[in-house]
Amino acid sequence: MKLLENYIQTYGEAINKDVLKVDAFINHQIDPKLMMELAKDIQNHFQNKTITKIVTIETSGIAPSLFLGYLLNVPVVYLKKNPSKITTDECYQTLVHSFTKNKDYTVTCSKKYLHQDDKVLFIDDFMANGEACIGAIKIIEEAQAELCGIAIIIEKAFQSGRKKVEELGYSVYSLARIQSLDNGKITFISE
Ligand code: G4P
Ligand code: NA
Ligand code: NA
Repeated sequence: MKLLENYIQTYGEAINKDVLKVDAFINHQIDPKLMMELAKDIQNHFQNKTITKIVTIETSGIAPSLFLGYLLNVPVVYLKKNPSKITTDECYQTLVHSFTKNKDYTVTCSKKYLHQDDKVLFIDDFMANGEACIGAIKIIEEAQAELCGIAIIIEKAFQSGRKKVEELGYSVYSLARIQSLDNGKITFISE
């Protein structure tokens, strides 16, 4: 998506060869007009699918998801990262390993908000090694909901996320695909 690539080139910073800082419009300050345009792009891409629910992970997946939820008139459920106080009987839960942060965390979802009859679109801000996405897939599968699509705002295509998710039988739609962050220069895989 050209608009997003322009935002990334203008406001993003390749702080090293692995990490792209985008605090200016998604991870700290949020640009609502951009979020709406991202949502419209995702809506357009998945227009042939019937979606009943958007699933994301707190925190940075929520903003674009909310705009899409508004456009599609469906609820947005965000998986929580803090250990849940409700019992495991009442929620789906899985462990995610973050290579970037070198730590494990639990993602949870109350059984109240994800059901067998849901047709889910999963959204997240970044895909690196795909671990968060795979955690979400596990939870959606455990709920026996149907995963109709995965939309990622920024994919770091030089990391292993897409490959691992495709091996599970799902395809990934990314709005921007970063080819490299080497030498402080941001390059994209063209659409
Ligand atoms: P993975 O799920 O694809 O394996 O990613 P990983 O564990 O490596 O990512 C951990 C966190 O770091 C995630 O956010 C992810 O969005 C973020 N992240 C990964 N690579 C980048 C990057 O190059 N730039 C930025 N800005 N973020 C990156 P999180 O901790 O879950 O935070 P949030 O959603 O609350 O923002
Ligand atoms: Na995130
Ligand atoms: Na993040």
